[in-house]
Amino acid sequence: MSAIPASLPLRNDLIGEEPYGAPQLDVPVCLNVNENPYPPEPAVCDAIAARVRAIAPTLNRYPDREHVALRQAFAGYLERESGARLEVGQLWGANGSNEIMLQLFQAFGGPGRTAIGADPTYSMYPEYARDTFTGWQLAHRNADFTLDVDRLIARIEETGPSMVLLTNPNNPTGTPLPQADIERVLAACEQVQVAGANPGVRPVVVIDEAYIEFRDPGTPSAVTLIGEHPNLAVSRTMSKAFAFAGARVGYLAADQGIIDCVRIVRMPYHLSAVTQAAALAAFEHTDEQLARVAHLRDTRDATAAWLKTQTYKGTPLRVADSQSNFLLFGGCFDHRDAIFDAMLERGVLIRVVGPEGWLRVCMGTDAEMARFREALVESLRIVEQQ
Ligand SMILES: Cc1ncc(COP(=O)(O)O)c(C=O)c1O
Repeated sequence: MSAIPASLPLRNDLIGEEPYGAPQLDVPVCLNVNENPYPPEPAVCDAIAARVRAIAPTLNRYPDREHVALRQAFAGYLERESGARLEVGQLWGANGSNEIMLQLFQAFGGPGRTAIGADPTYSMYPEYARDTFTGWQLAHRNADFTLDVDRLIARIEETGPSMVLLTNPNNPTGTPLPQADIERVLAACEQVQVAGANPGVRPVVVIDEAYIEFRDPGTPSAVTLIGEHPNLAVSRTMSKAFAFAGARVGYLAADQGIIDCVRIVRMPYHLSAVTQAAALAAFEHTDEQLARVAHLRDTRDATAAWLKTQTYKGTPLRVADSQSNFLLFGGCFDHRDAIFDAMLERGVLIRVVGPEGWLRVCMGTDAEMARFREALVESLRIVEQQ
C-alpha cells in the first residue's frame, strides 16, 4: 500500500494508481514472472566479474553513451539466432525491454496520439501509454487467443494510431504470431495516415519478441523483415531465454531512422558501464546462457500435456497453445484467486493474470515443476470442496 500524502502535487491522472509489479515473495518455487530458472554457470559469473573488474577503474567517467560494443554484440547475436544481418546503427540497447518500450512511446506516442494492442496482452503497455499521455486502445483476439488480423487492420484504418504493438509470442497467453500476419499488418500500416500528424506519416509497428527464443526452431523472427520495412521496430530482451533478467538489458532492432528517433528521447548515459560490461561478458558465453532453452521448451510441452489431463469440477483444464516459457491454463476456474492462494500456501507462486478463469505458470527446473504439479492437484481438490 502506498502512503502518498494528499498534499503532494501528484499528476491528477496518477492519483489512486499503484506501482506495477508481480508480488516478490520469498517462497521456495517462484513461477510467476517468466524468468529462466537456471542461473548463469560459474564460468559465466567469472567472466562477468572479470569484465566489470576491468572497467571499474574507469567508473569516474561516464559510459559510452552510444554503447557501440554492445550494439555490435546484439548484431552478432541476432545474426546467429535469427539469420538477420543488421548494422550497429539498426540496434539500440536499454535497461530492459521495458525501457526500450518506454522510449518508443516517448518518441512516437504523446498527447493526441494513439497506440493499439491486442487484448489480452502484456499489462505494462497501458502504463507506458499513461506515462507518455498516449491514448491506448485494444483490438480483439479470437477465442483461442490468436490475433483477429482483419479486425485489427480495420481498427488501425479507423483510428490512425502512431503505434501498433504486437507481442510474439504473446504474454500472458503464449500465442505465436505468424510472420504472414505481421506482414499483413505492416502492409496495411504502410497505407494508413497517423491521425493528427503530417501527411504521409505512417504508424510504427512494434513487435515485442521478449520470449521469441522459445519458439519452435526454424520459425522466422520479425528481425528478418527490418530491411524491407522502415516503420518496423522489434523489441528483444536478455531477461528471458538468455537468463539475464537481473542485469536489465533489452534491445531494439529497427531501421536507423527509428533508432535515431529513440536517441532523441533517451536519458544521457542511460546504460551504465557496469551493465554494458556484464552484457558483453554474457554474450561471450551465449551457448552456456541458452543451454537450457531446448529443455525449457520440452518442459513446457510436457507440462501442457499434463495440465490437459487434469480436471476442475469435472471439466478438463484448457491450455492455451504456447511458444513461450509459460502456459496460460484453466479457462474454467470460478475462484482463481483461491487456487492461487492454495498454491502459495504450498510454496508455489504462480500468477493471476489474463482473462477471468485462467492462471499463468512459467517453466521452472524439473524439481520445481514436480512441486508445481503436486501443489496444483492438491489446490484444485481443496478449492473444489469450498
Ligand atoms: C511481453 C513482454 N515484454 C517485455 C517485458 C519486459 O522485460 P524486460 O524489461 O525484463 O526486458 C516482459 C517482461 O515480463 C514481457 O512479458
